[in-house]
Parts: sequence; C-alpha cells; structure tokens
Amino acid sequence: MPTVRRNTLITGASSGIGAELARQYAARGRTLALCARRLPALEELRDTLPGRVLVRPLDVTDHDAVFTVFREFAEELGTLDRVIVNAGIGAGRPIGTGGFAANRDTVSTNFLGALAQCEAAMEIFRRQNAGHLVVISSMAALRGLPGAVTTYAATKAAVSALAEGIRVDVVGTPIRVTTVLPGYVRSEMNPEPGRLIADTVPAVRAMVAAVEREPRQAYVPPWPWRALAPVLRHLPARLLKRTT
Ligand SMILES: NC(=O)c1ccc[n+]([C@@H]2O[C@H](COP(=O)([O-])OP(=O)(O)OC[C@H]3O[C@@H](n4cnc5c(N)ncnc54)[C@H](OP(=O)(O)O)[C@@H]3O)[C@@H](O)[C@H]2O)c1
Repeated sequence: MPTVRRNTLITGASSGIGAELARQYAARGRTLALCARRLPALEELRDTLPGRVLVRPLDVTDHDAVFTVFREFAEELGTLDRVIVNAGIGAGRPIGTGGFAANRDTVSTNFLGALAQCEAAMEIFRRQNAGHLVVISSMAALRGLPGAVTTYAATKAAVSALAEGIRVDVVGTPIRVTTVLPGYVRSEMNPEPGRLIADTVPAVRAMVAAVEREPRQAYVPPWPWRALAPVLRHLPARLLKRTT
C-alpha cells in the first residue's frame, strides 16, 4: 500500500485541473504548495481551502525560477512528498501556417517547463530518497495529431517519454513516477461542453483516485479513455483527420 504523501506541490494550480486537484487534496488533509503565474487566483483559491496552503507566483518558462520556487517550498515544508507537474497550455497552430511563435511557446511551457519541473522535483526526491512525481500528459501523447494540436500532442508525447525515462532511472528506489493521461476535461483550456468532455470535479476525482494508487500510467477518467487508447493508436490517418 503506498504511503500518504503529505506535502504536495501542484503547478498550474490557478485554474482547471490544477485548482481542482488543490481543492480535493486539501479536503484530504494534505499540505499544499501551489504555483502558477496568476498569484491573485492562487491567493483567492488558498483562502477557500482548509489546512496549510503555500502559494508562489511561478512562470515555468523561467527555468531558474522553477528550481528556486521548488527549493523554497521544500525548505519551508521540510519535505516535498509529491510533485504534480501540471502547468500547460493548449495554444497552437497547424505546422507551416505562420504559427511558429505559438507552437514554440507550447514547447517552452509544456515540454521545457515540464523538464525543469521534473529536474527540480527529482533533485529534491533523490536527496530525500523518497517522493512521488506525477506528470500530467494527455491522451494526445498517444498519436501525432493534425491541425492546431500537432505541437501540443508532440509535447505530451515528449513528457510521457520523459516520465518513463525517469521511472526507469529510479527502479529499485522508493521514488515513484506516474504519468497521467487525461482525456477531454472541462477547464480554461477546454471550456466548451461536448460529448466526450468530462466535468472537472468528477474527472479530477478519478485522477486523485488513480494518483493515490501510484501506478506507472493512468488514463483519466478510465472510461472511455482506456478503451479508446488502442483505437486512437491504430486509427487510419484519414479517420484521425476527420475526428480531431
Ligand atoms: N483539459 C483537458 O482536456 C486536458 C486534457 C489532457 C491534458 N490536460 C493537461 O492538464 C494540464 C492542466 O490544464 P487544464 O486543462 O487544467 O487547463 P487550464 O485551466 O488552462 O490550466 C492551465 C494551468 O497551467 C498554468 N500555466 C500555463 N502556463 C504556465 C506557465 N508558463 N507557468 C506556470 N503556469 C502556467 C495556468 O496558470 P497561469 O495562467 O496562472 O500561469 C493554469 O493554472 C495541462 O498540462 C494540460 O495539457 C488537459
């Protein structure tokens, strides 16, 4: 049975999945360290939560700041028991249509930012010889995708591979690494209701249940995304283009 991970750092906690993770983990009595660029949103969230909640502004594309903020949180709390690498953006443009700047920003946030967060978290976990690294990837990691999400999907494939490599690195140690692959979840990134879009609260409830088991990888919510994973992997390109 995994141990209770008390001190939990969540990036991208000012909205959507990250903010709801904070609500649900606070309700479970965890001590929280929350960061995102929008400090007022974090402070507003903190004021609604029970228990001890630290907040700090952080832009994950400022890589030095990622190391500084993670170290400051670890120092203030004594240990960091779980780090959830969640900050991300969904902006992007089809490749070759003049959208390089947006696509570069997506890589900078979703991949380089995630790399900095994993490095900073693992430095702390290696020193402690304990900790649970949770990387929020996406179902989009499973397949190269067309249109506005080509770069987004590539960044998520990259973070899945990054998490897998770290997991292999720490085999035989007490450190655990979980890759979470959400399907569509209602958030600022995905505000419109739709057939496959899960509401934030139940989707994050499923995410918390999965993360607590500390598996290698989790599709969230499990239905329908676990069943759709092999379909997405093998869908012919023509059909993929029509459905995405
Ligand atoms: N919603 C979905 O359907 C879905 C599906 C699969 C995976 N995901 C993943 O889930 C994660 C959370 O997304 P969400 O759906 O909850 O979207 P969201 O509501 O837009 O939340 C994104 C969070 O990331 C933060 N963020 C963005 N850029 C940042 C930066 N440069 N530095 C620090 N924080 C930054 C935002 O805070 P600030 O703006 O305050 O910085 C915000 O708190 C992302 O990694 C996303 O790729 C979402």
